[in-house]
Amino acid sequence: MADTLNTKVSRYESARKVTGEAKYAADFMPAGMLHGWLVTSPIAVGTVTGVDPSPALAHDGVLGVYTRETLPEFKTQKGFYQGGAGTASFWPMTSDEIKYAGQPVAYVVAETVAAARRGADLVKLEYSPKGSIIHMEPEHSELAQNMEVTKGDLDAGLAQASVTVDATYVTPFQHHNAMEMFATTAHWSGDKLTVWMPSQSVRTARAGIAAAFGISETAIEVVSPFVGGAFGSKAGLPPYALLTIAAARDLGVPLRLIVTRSQMYTVASFRPESVQKFRLGADETGMLTAFEHIEIAQTSRFDPVINPGTHMTRAMYACPNIHTEQRLASSDTNTPGFMRAPNEMQTFFALETAMDELAISLDMDPIELRRANDTETHPVEKVPFSSRAMMECFDAAAETFGWSERAAQADGRRDGDWLVGFGCATATYPTGVAPSSARVRMQDDGTALIELAAHDVGTGTYTIMGQIAAQRLGLNVDKVEVVMGNSGLPLAPIAGGSVTAASAGSAVHLACLNLAKEVAATVTSRDDTPLSGLDPKTITLTDGLLKSANGKEMTLLEALKATPRGEATAHGEYAHPDITEEALKVTYKGGYDVAGPVTANKAMFAFGAQFVEARVNEWTKEIRVSRIHGAFAAGNIINRKTAHSQLMGGMIWGLGSALHEHTEVDTKRARFLNDNIAEYLVPVNADVVEVNVQMLEEADDYVNPLGVKGIGELGIVGTAAAVGNAIHNATGKRLRKLPFTISDMV
Ligand code: MOS
Repeated sequence: MADTLNTKVSRYESARKVTGEAKYAADFMPAGMLHGWLVTSPIAVGTVTGVDPSPALAHDGVLGVYTRETLPEFKTQKGFYQGGAGTASFWPMTSDEIKYAGQPVAYVVAETVAAARRGADLVKLEYSPKGSIIHMEPEHSELAQNMEVTKGDLDAGLAQASVTVDATYVTPFQHHNAMEMFATTAHWSGDKLTVWMPSQSVRTARAGIAAAFGISETAIEVVSPFVGGAFGSKAGLPPYALLTIAAARDLGVPLRLIVTRSQMYTVASFRPESVQKFRLGADETGMLTAFEHIEIAQTSRFDPVINPGTHMTRAMYACPNIHTEQRLASSDTNTPGFMRAPNEMQTFFALETAMDELAISLDMDPIELRRANDTETHPVEKVPFSSRAMMECFDAAAETFGWSERAAQADGRRDGDWLVGFGCATATYPTGVAPSSARVRMQDDGTALIELAAHDVGTGTYTIMGQIAAQRLGLNVDKVEVVMGNSGLPLAPIAGGSVTAASAGSAVHLACLNLAKEVAATVTSRDDTPLSGLDPKTITLTDGLLKSANGKEMTLLEALKATPRGEATAHGEYAHPDITEEALKVTYKGGYDVAGPVTANKAMFAFGAQFVEARVNEWTKEIRVSRIHGAFAAGNIINRKTAHSQLMGGMIWGLGSALHEHTEVDTKRARFLNDNIAEYLVPVNADVVEVNVQMLEEADDYVNPLGVKGIGELGIVGTAAAVGNAIHNATGKRLRKLPFTISDMV
């Protein structure tokens, strides 16, 4: 691929974003709009026994208070994990029940934001609380349905091992903390409804809203042109959106709600806490003889949310004896959900720490342990990987990082008062390819318009869709306009699971090829073009050139000038050959399904290797990460600039998981405590010293026509393990619980 692909095109929307011209959902303010504010429950479990809205209603500017009694009706929807559109299956304010702290219990409407907020403070509520717990009880976990996998004989494998590891790893609650707040603005105009809300899936939101209010999908427009960070938290249809839409219908005027930072911790999803148990056995050469992973993840009382990590870990290394279990333990929170690399972050922290422990026990270089167990076929499903460059990533990163300088023993390297250690870990992310479609229109002025209901959640999707089209059509990137983030546009999948570039990109590619077919039909039928009289089926499109089998050619742009009005439109519909009919239907109904990562034919995964230099102060035990190097092989890279940012951002987030991120809880009241970005710690510049990204060339024509694997979530996977392994190399101290803190070091 040449020109616009595999290059460093800057984001076309950058200037719009820094000048404030880019409009996010809450920036759309229809005339006459009123303001909503949520009142949330201070108790975690119990019932609402009394509501007195009168002090709020007496406040200047407050127009109404909706409670369970006065809330206009809508049909509650199933949760995402039951195939519905909801972020959870429990809908607050449809009963007196309280199931989690921070649950919406009343909804105030006022003329101004200030009045709505004050009104929310003034609503008087009485509760009858019951006992609650916020931490799951792993000892009371249950096996998730059909989530146990056994291959070979684990006990025999353990018995035959010369070295074993038996360890438990623990990860905390985490919250997304996107910069853009959750918001919904609803505007009813008769039976037509426009909803502005930040969304990773405008089609899912539309389907859920249509079902909830009993109106046709075509009467609804869900608009979300820019999303200021989502990371999984804006995937489904949240209760506050339906409350706002219901209230706006009742009021007969547009209504906007912006959720506060603190409320963001309870009204949407989060990363559940988890316990990961590993038992590994290996012979003296390092070959695995036994592999067991039991994952226990927290979930809410009402939704058995499974983000299975065991299906990822068991795909990594060759082993004849495998046992994995996916278990759930519930507690009194809202329903957890996806959070960037929704299981891989925590499960690969565990797996890759366990692998390091195994290497140390074997007195083996950790890279060589991975090499000994590298495999070309999926260890359980037995299908070959479509491409797998895990060891190429290790070798490339080891070289640039200077792994050969690593001290084989702990405390083998010092820099003044600092103990310095090196660690590494595998990164991976499943390649899922979702059905997608797109429309391309060549316009009179020589520009192309690309339209699809995909989303730019801050990753650069507008830019890469433009690049793909520009390459096919033979245009400069600035001659392609991309329109996305609207439910009325051709179907595109959820911006989740790192599927967008692969899926929506393939649809744009196909739309351009279809456009060429249409144009070829016109120019071959005319008598005044270089392609006159030829069979249109023999004409192909390459980088903007229409070429015939007998060597005749003309540019697509010239050909367009020869078509009536100089315009042409085409549609592209992409579905991976391995996707099932059922999955296809689900997506077109607003749901989510993909081909991959494991199909009947292939296993599709992106790989990487992460290397970390960590420093621990001998006296204060302060932990610092001075270098992170990651090498990644994720198929074709459309844009080396946006991809670099994604991978770097992922690794920095991984550093956050290692050293900072942790939602603290009040166990007495079952509440999240540090619900603000002052106390919820994330890495700042001083924490991020050197982060180096390498992208390896990888060709994979099985995954999709573009050869693209996802990179949005790959970068975070493995970082925390690499940090912990480096700390062990520096100090001899093995850390098995995230985040790593000074108190863990003493
Ligand atoms: Mo990502 S957690 O799949 O939005």
